Amino acid sequence: MPDLRERWRTGRLEANAYDWAVEHEHVAGVLGRLIWGTDTSAFYRDIARLSALPPGTSVLDIPCGGGVAFRGLRPNQELHYIAADLSPLMLRRARAEAARRGISWIEFAEADVEALPFKDSGFDLCITYTGLHCFPDPQTAIREMARMLKPGGELRGTSVIKRAGIRQDAFVRLMQIGGVFGPGLTLRELESSLADAGLLGTRTERDGGLAYFSAHKPPGD
Ligand SMILES: C[S@@+](CC[C@H](N)C(=O)[O-])C[C@H]1O[C@@H](n2cnc3c(N)ncnc32)[C@H](O)[C@@H]1O
Repeated sequence: MPDLRERWRTGRLEANAYDWAVEHEHVAGVLGRLIWGTDTSAFYRDIARLSALPPGTSVLDIPCGGGVAFRGLRPNQELHYIAADLSPLMLRRARAEAARRGISWIEFAEADVEALPFKDSGFDLCITYTGLHCFPDPQTAIREMARMLKPGGELRGTSVIKRAGIRQDAFVRLMQIGGVFGPGLTLRELESSLADAGLLGTRTERDGGLAYFSAHKPPGD
């Protein structure tokens, strides 16, 4: 799906609109409830868990978008944190967000999640918030993110999923026709994709059309 990739790489409207909404929790709350039937406060709570990571933890945040996950970070936390995205516009927004929050230790990288340019097994944690449904090939993306993990490392994130309900499926279809969503995954497909990528201990939770998931790379890998 080259058009989808290009759309996210160069699109301004979808990038600005999405990021504006997600940065305003009350707007995201209303849209999340109306469109996806989900309570987005759980999304922000999940992000808030990042504040508990000990200094020195290596984190890959992809797609970082405009830096929504930075709200979970503390300026004095000193993580090895790479925020990556395909879109230069999103990366500009993310840089500005990090500066606004006084966080100086984030590195930024333009990268395609389906062909990650970082070395294997370099990260303790890979976070991927609301990205999988936007990618041309979510299974390849999951395999790539799994490749980035150190033994015992964790992949965690959220994704819009298919077959969550008639209304949600209609919106997924609309977004696919509009060229901003890819093929996406059902909850089952998400679970099997995590297993196929060699990850263990998968936990998934569905809230309306949004799934929360986490899985680990085996310790000895
Ligand atoms: C719905 S936004 C989510 C961004 C952020 N994680 C958030 O929750 O606000 C989807 C993001 O995926 C990025 N993206 C789309 N395709 C990508 C790809 N193949 N590789 C990396 N990033 C991609 C877009 O540029 C956009 O920032």
